[in-house]
Amino acid sequence: MSRVAHPAGPRHADVLPVDHPPAPPADLNALHPAIWPRSAQRNGGVLTLGGVDVRDLAGEFGTPVFVTDEDDVRSRAREYVEAFAGAGGEWGGGQPPYAGDPGVVPRASSVCYAAKAFCSRAVLRWITEEGLGVDVCTGGELEVALSAGVDPSVITLHGNNKLPAELDRAVAAGVGHIVVDSFEEIARLAYYADSSSRRPRVLVRVTTGVEAHTHEFMATAHDDQKFGFSLASGAADEAVRRVLALPSLEFAGLHSHIGSQIFDTAGFEVAAHRVIELAARVHAEHGVTVSELDLGGGFGIAYTPEDDPPEVKSLAAGLRAIVGAQCAVFGLPVPRLTIEPGRGIIGPSTVTLYEVGTIKDVDGLRTYVSVDGGMSDNIRTALYDASYTCVLASRSSHEPPMLSRVVGRHCESGDIVVRHCYLPSDLAHGDLLAVAATGAYCRSLASNYNHLARPGVVAVRDGAARVIVRRETLDDLLSLDVG
Ligand code: LLP
Repeated sequence: MSRVAHPAGPRHADVLPVDHPPAPPADLNALHPAIWPRSAQRNGGVLTLGGVDVRDLAGEFGTPVFVTDEDDVRSRAREYVEAFAGAGGEWGGGQPPYAGDPGVVPRASSVCYAAKAFCSRAVLRWITEEGLGVDVCTGGELEVALSAGVDPSVITLHGNNKLPAELDRAVAAGVGHIVVDSFEEIARLAYYADSSSRRPRVLVRVTTGVEAHTHEFMATAHDDQKFGFSLASGAADEAVRRVLALPSLEFAGLHSHIGSQIFDTAGFEVAAHRVIELAARVHAEHGVTVSELDLGGGFGIAYTPEDDPPEVKSLAAGLRAIVGAQCAVFGLPVPRLTIEPGRGIIGPSTVTLYEVGTIKDVDGLRTYVSVDGGMSDNIRTALYDASYTCVLASRSSHEPPMLSRVVGRHCESGDIVVRHCYLPSDLAHGDLLAVAATGAYCRSLASNYNHLARPGVVAVRDGAARVIVRRETLDDLLSLDVG
């Protein structure tokens, strides 16, 4: 039985199977800087994060555990603010003068962290300390933000089906923006606003018909999805009309979100063009200037060496150019621009540490490496066929690479954490494995499938580690079962 990568040979010569794994990396111990947290390094062969040895992290906090590099999160947050908002919170020049009332339009932009990617009080505090706002999409996320002490005025509430109590709470708390998503909701929001002293600032979520995924985008005529008001059907124009007709609501502008893990600005270009066309119609019909434009999130990150996301700076320059050009076409002032990155800020900061359990050779195919977590702490591989990078973390090894699949301990054959990777052939039970770029949509999508307790999250910085989300215990789970 061989534990070494299957050499390329006649079996592979004809047609590459769809599932064909990439070639082994030159150095199994290397940490690709675009994929691993900025503080990640090997010290005496052992992975350290935020200056902390992963063996100490595993010893103190157990495995599986999410380890988040605080400085990585903060530095990415700052980069977004600097690139998009500029030092003074202003988007760069080049805006065409507005024929009507140029002074009226605020020029500042803002960056809101999309808390759905990962929502905890500590992270929301770091993020807001770095000058970002927070985008929440449920009452639960809203409570985390409010209980973290986030200023309600920098919070934006989204959601296609906000519960009446959530709207009520958001209005009463004075959240900065509410993104309306249905006609019913506009009426309901006005009701809560009427019975309070607040006048919520409202963004109308526009379905542009653009759906972007990674390297490509699709412009569909049918807007076949649950979010927002369709531009194609005229619903978006009607939504603006209704918001403007309700004195208890303040119409602030338009919102569009076209997808996630996007690597280029082409989809944004089409979406911005369509939204700004709507802004022009709003101005023509109502004499009202759309003062805010929220282009959503979706900026991609590197999960594997093949991923090549653009730099935040060039992304910002691209979006700025697109919006500036579209506004110029219609003679509109450039509105205050907001973006809502989630993955781009938290994704690369975090590593999941697992302990290796059973190792099984499926001879001639690959080695199955079972770890002590699985699809309950990372559903993305099963759900989206996502790719990840992993390394042996508790030591280095110069043994030959073995083609591996990292799997969890759930009763499902789809319970795969890393579909293809190369691990050293002396990998053994008890070794620690680190999977990179698990900060976004892993802990937040975690489940208790098979009654596994969800892992905790530990923040590392300057050689120190602290728990920011406690690991669940079996007692936590049993205490819910009251039958
Ligand atoms: N704004 C809105 C309105 C959104 O719906 C989303 C993500 C974002 C911002 C943030 O997108 P990001 O920058 O994180 O890509 N569970 C999937 C991703 C779902 C994204 C949902 N909306 C995944 O694991 O890839």
